[in-house]
Amino acid sequence: MRLFDRAFTGSDEMFALAEAAVTKTIDKLGADAPVAFGSTAYFLPCIYAYTGRKITKLSELKDVLEPVKGWLTRNYRLNDVFTSGIATVLAAEIIEACKYAENPTPYEEKYHGHMTDAEVRELGVPLVTQDIPGFVVIIDEAPTDAQAQVLIKGYQSRGIFVFLLKGAIDQAERCGIKMGFPVRIVPVGPGIEAVSHIISVVVRAAFIFGNVQPGDWEGFNKYSFERIFAFVNAFGPLENITVGCGAGAIAMGFPVITNDTVDVDVVPKSLIIQTNIDDLIETSLEARDIKIKVSNIDLPVACASAFEGEIIRKADMFCEADGSRKDCFELVRTKELHEVEDHKIELIGQDFDAMEVGCKINLAIIIDIAGKNMQSDFEPVFERKIHNYVNCLEGVMHTGQRDLIRIRVSKSSFEAGFRVKHFGELLYAKMKNDFSQVVDKCQVTLVTEPELVTKLRKEANEIYDKRDARLRSLTDESVECFYTCTLCQSFSPSHVCIVTPERLGLCGAVSWLDAKSTNELQPSGPCQVVTKTKVIDEAKGAYEDVNEAVSTYSHGALDKVTLYSIMEDPMTSCGCFECICGIEPMSNGVIIVNREYAGSTPLGMTFAELASMTGGGVQTPGFMGHGRHFIASKKFMKAEGGIARIVWMPKALKDSVAERLNISAKELYGIDNFTDRIADESISEDPDTLMAYLSEKGHPALEMEPMM
Ligand code: SF4
Ligand code: NI
Ligand code: NI
Repeated sequence: MRLFDRAFTGSDEMFALAEAAVTKTIDKLGADAPVAFGSTAYFLPCIYAYTGRKITKLSELKDVLEPVKGWLTRNYRLNDVFTSGIATVLAAEIIEACKYAENPTPYEEKYHGHMTDAEVRELGVPLVTQDIPGFVVIIDEAPTDAQAQVLIKGYQSRGIFVFLLKGAIDQAERCGIKMGFPVRIVPVGPGIEAVSHIISVVVRAAFIFGNVQPGDWEGFNKYSFERIFAFVNAFGPLENITVGCGAGAIAMGFPVITNDTVDVDVVPKSLIIQTNIDDLIETSLEARDIKIKVSNIDLPVACASAFEGEIIRKADMFCEADGSRKDCFELVRTKELHEVEDHKIELIGQDFDAMEVGCKINLAIIIDIAGKNMQSDFEPVFERKIHNYVNCLEGVMHTGQRDLIRIRVSKSSFEAGFRVKHFGELLYAKMKNDFSQVVDKCQVTLVTEPELVTKLRKEANEIYDKRDARLRSLTDESVECFYTCTLCQSFSPSHVCIVTPERLGLCGAVSWLDAKSTNELQPSGPCQVVTKTKVIDEAKGAYEDVNEAVSTYSHGALDKVTLYSIMEDPMTSCGCFECICGIEPMSNGVIIVNREYAGSTPLGMTFAELASMTGGGVQTPGFMGHGRHFIASKKFMKAEGGIARIVWMPKALKDSVAERLNISAKELYGIDNFTDRIADESISEDPDTLMAYLSEKGHPALEMEPMM
């Protein structure tokens, strides 16, 4: 059978399975039974993307069979193969939807199945920073387990996000590979129809970040081709149904690389044969034009962004530096050129060899930097990067910053040869590499000697205090300029963040100081200076210069924004925001929801549903994506009366911002313990109990002017 026939036959097979699944499920549950994947605002995402239909019940699912069948044309033209490939994916989603209609959690522990909107949004920042340079979908088993292990770990260590289907999952399991969304190896499902959950991530990225509209067939294929660097590794012998799905992948711009040579015709850049499994990674990356930044740091353990999400349990731990129990800290200092010896890595105190398994240690990490363009304002920016760098080590976990760090080193990393000085090697290499414009010389001192760490920590605290005083003095009024950030434009082409001292980027990862240092490091990069001399309305944060910048950098998509209003020309969102804030009409207030919160809100909407109201660089008055840190800012919704409007937040979010929020509320309105007046999910999840609580507590929003 020729390739086209195989694809068409496979598409027909998938469709027949979909038809049978719908009939069986309707027989069992009735045509009115609901159907949903949960935790998404995009219905059945693939079907919604390609047909524009909002399917919520089985009868509607049945109705969609007809158009899907209509796309299975069996004309021997390339375009028809592509169309029926997409139809195959939609049929696969129909099968999956039937499973979820019968049981909201159809997959046991082992498989991940549907991915939530929050998970898709979480990918935003690592994608734009190229921490995740691409995605691979591995289908079926590699010839040997050893090859599978090398392949999967090879992708992981290059930062490639790995989805596994069918036999590939069993194989990874046999190899003892740790799987899960946080370590970026996702065992999606045991059947090929689970491929629809992967395409569902792709189309939702297009909805969320690209503002592609439902039903825009061309728009989705174009977005996936241009912005999502994905490809497929399918091991032979290929089943026809897999070939049918492969046609869909190729239609979206994702090349398929296989080791199957039987009845497979090569299509340049799209369908590629590679029988040498050792070369599979290279062939695949080349096919999708993915370039990997290589770092040649000599370390006994792997170092890749995929290990950032890795958790090390007590039982697996060799030792721990825990700043809440024993003195520990990390610090970046600016020094004169003659004071720093480049690449000097010094350890003062004992190394791991002299320590006992499970012990708590003292640890100081001091990085001294000298450079003609170095400024002390960059110290906190570089220092925060220590977290990302150290966390990327396999078998090492890092949380916190300054003197509240916690670093765990696993037994297996110790056994692999990891020692204290390797922190120094890693940090030296990263600082020199990532900040080459300002770091001429760098040396790292590591201290484990307890008395010395205690003494040095006191000195470090004085430096932190000085820095905090400097940060407090940085207000929107006190600085000369703001900055743009257009990093997210690779996914959200018309979005621009304006970053000010009191309003960080909505992803939470770019503060004014970060933007300033990025501007210094990459003068023609994503962070450009925005002057603020032409004031239109200071209370709203409206400036002619800001509008000009927004218009230029959004390529004309937007002509004005205000910095401090949620109602009038609010700042746009790309999709990777940490929090979303929306109007609660009864109380004249707003609610704020963070991405991690999965429950409902008094607006009757989840984070996913609220988040879908805005994004893609479009202005939506009444809804605004923002960073966590912005919540306690005196500029938060200043135009509408400020933080006094906040009436509801999930408890965990409220607790995490309470200290700073209460200080701001005291300073702005003289209110003590303001967060006590803000409701959360333990108090109310509907407007009536919310209103009762707010009246009881005398919440200031009730006295304020209506916002609409
Ligand atoms: Fe994206 Fe804005 Fe964060 Fe820049 S500041 S990375 S544009 S969300
Ligand atoms: Ni790690
Ligand atoms: Ni973004």
